[in-house]
Amino acid sequence: MVVQWDIMRVALRWIAALVGVTAAVTLAFAFFQARSEKRALRNEVEGRAQALGDTLQDRVEAVRSDSDSTSLESYLVRVENRDSLYGIAIYNDLGTQLAATPSLSNALTRLPSVVTRAISENGGRGGFVHFGPMLLYLYALPLHHGPSVTGAVGMFYDASYISAEIARLWRTTFWTLLIEIFFIVSITFSIIHWTFAGRVSRMALWMKQWQRGVTHGGPPLPDDELFKPLADEVRRMTSMLAAARAAAEEEARLRESAESLWTPERLRVHVKSKLQEKPLFVVSNREPYMHVRNGKTVQVVVPASGLVTALEPVLLACEGTWIAHGAGDADRETVGPGDQLRVPPDNPHYTLRRVWLSAEEEAGYYYGFANEGLWPLCHIAHTRPVFRASDWEAYQEVNRKFASAVLEEMQGTEEPVVLVQDYHFALLPRLIKRERPETRVAIFWHIPWPNPQAFGICPWQRELLDGLLGADLTGFHIQAHCNHFLETIDQALESRIDWNRFVVNRGGHRTQVRRFPISVDPAELTPPSATVKTPPVDRVALLKEQGVDAVLLGVGVDRVDYTKGIPERFRGVERFLEKYPDYQDRFTFLQVGAPSRATIPRYHDLLAEVDAEAGRINARFATARWRPIVYLQRLHTHAEVARYYRAANVCMVTALHDGMNLVAKEFVASRDDERGVLILSRFAGAAAELRDALIVNPYDTEQLAETIRAALEMTPEEEAQRMQAMRGVVTEHNIYRWAANLITELAEIRVEEPRPASVA
Ligand code: G6P
Repeated sequence: MVVQWDIMRVALRWIAALVGVTAAVTLAFAFFQARSEKRALRNEVEGRAQALGDTLQDRVEAVRSDSDSTSLESYLVRVENRDSLYGIAIYNDLGTQLAATPSLSNALTRLPSVVTRAISENGGRGGFVHFGPMLLYLYALPLHHGPSVTGAVGMFYDASYISAEIARLWRTTFWTLLIEIFFIVSITFSIIHWTFAGRVSRMALWMKQWQRGVTHGGPPLPDDELFKPLADEVRRMTSMLAAARAAAEEEARLRESAESLWTPERLRVHVKSKLQEKPLFVVSNREPYMHVRNGKTVQVVVPASGLVTALEPVLLACEGTWIAHGAGDADRETVGPGDQLRVPPDNPHYTLRRVWLSAEEEAGYYYGFANEGLWPLCHIAHTRPVFRASDWEAYQEVNRKFASAVLEEMQGTEEPVVLVQDYHFALLPRLIKRERPETRVAIFWHIPWPNPQAFGICPWQRELLDGLLGADLTGFHIQAHCNHFLETIDQALESRIDWNRFVVNRGGHRTQVRRFPISVDPAELTPPSATVKTPPVDRVALLKEQGVDAVLLGVGVDRVDYTKGIPERFRGVERFLEKYPDYQDRFTFLQVGAPSRATIPRYHDLLAEVDAEAGRINARFATARWRPIVYLQRLHTHAEVARYYRAANVCMVTALHDGMNLVAKEFVASRDDERGVLILSRFAGAAAELRDALIVNPYDTEQLAETIRAALEMTPEEEAQRMQAMRGVVTEHNIYRWAANLITELAEIRVEEPRPASVA
């Protein structure tokens, strides 16, 4: 109501201004129009009088000289009738009326000044005179006898039609103005009503409901072009408020139950005290925000990367600097001095420092050594690694380039702390330590570490291991990867390994090896407050959007990578439908596939293979309104993916080998309705934690088919029990706990006095 009244007040002010301006303009126009109309009418009368006056002058003089006043008057009456005059009068040179038509006989009491002027100035003169209630226009011409003026003839025209004409003009102006005001008022009210009032009230209602904790079921926020920026800000603000409220609730709950749940706030405080207020430096190949050209505009893209998903919340909580490869085609024009920018772009919290690579460097280091060499070397997925000396050269070169960028960023920070990420930077810990030995360096290896025999085929395994052992702390997702790493060192390098404490001693430097299972931020996927539930997603409607009539939904979300087991998953779905035909027409599997590393032939071929496999299975079973597989081959936003997770009966993670696999954890985190079944590969690191998933061997098609059936036929009670248990794990072992453990461990390591490193 208050909002409505405020809007009315704005509308009235707007109307008053519009009406004022319109009235002023209209009246000014009318005034000038009346003036010129008057002038035109007067000119017209004068023209007529002058023309008549010229003929009249001679005739009157003639008639006057040879006849009496009666014949003069009768002559005047004739003229008056013929030329529709009101009257004619003749004056002598003293202004005395000598003769006049009867119409003028009694009302003119005084000699009109126009006549006097015509006589004295010896020229035609005109002007308005009042004749009783009438307005007349008098035009007087001097009469001559020879050269001297002997009097004047006055021609009187009825001029009341001029004032009537002017009055009519003002009346029209008045009505026009009234109609204009009517339109201004009604159009303004309509515009205000349709454009603003409804939307503003909806927004106010929406916010009021939010304050009461009702997050769905109410009116939606107006999302049209005009209101979208405002609605986006409102949403952002409310979600920030909700997060703050949830954090406060959570803290209260923790204090109450003395539990130890990690939250962004707790991590921030913890890291500050552990790092003694020093900033955190994080290095990864993939940047969290890419600027990408899209026609004439530049878009911000969040890449499909488990690493980015995991690290972004940590940086948001702790601030600091994230150093990464600037890979977007509009990245260079969006950085500031020092190749830095503040991110996230719409709510800056930390600094992104971009490092530029040439196309050759990227081809050799990223596509070549990292992704055609180390990636298949570490993932046992039966794709053969390719080792090229030129790629290795590029890998070393780029590691050196990143080392200089890190050293540059760390200038001025005493005893800095650096978290290096992943297999792209195995040499970086040693390179940093060589220049700044007092730095605390951890490297986290996000992919599996294979057994020593498998790793041993790499021609540069010793150099890689030496680079990694430059770190004070090396982390993996699961214990098996830690063990394989230590076994590989044992076989490849000269060093002393303390198997009880998982420490490697080499050249006087100690490297701690630890397990840190990475995770997600559950609050990112579901409302942070326990009292607010995510709105349910209409599964049937979602499938209809994809042109499918079905009631049961399976989902898979992956980068299209041969380690993810996507074709294997499709074959599991195929076998399931073959074995249990009752599910045909009812169950559809939706696969989100973000294209990845597509310039590498193996990935390029895989894109075609996945597509063909989906096509083959669809061709086998599809009906007019149903198909078994919906394959969406593009990058999806977190929000889009979250919708699929929430709608699914079952989520399939069938990686052939995976360090952790955050999709499994994201699915669990998004299910605050405690429904949905997770089918999880035993070869994904997540299987070590999510024991209530249905664990499968993705190579076993028969088992996949049976597991899909078991998942779809599971009782709601069992489904809820399993989901609750998994949600407990993901909530407690969240990304903040991962970061806190890693940073605590690193901060507690005693950094030795620098000694020259000996390379074995
Ligand atoms: C894996 C790696 C990450 C990498 C991600 C995406 O999860 O462990 O380091 O970010 O794949 O790969 P991309 O090559 O696109 O960065």
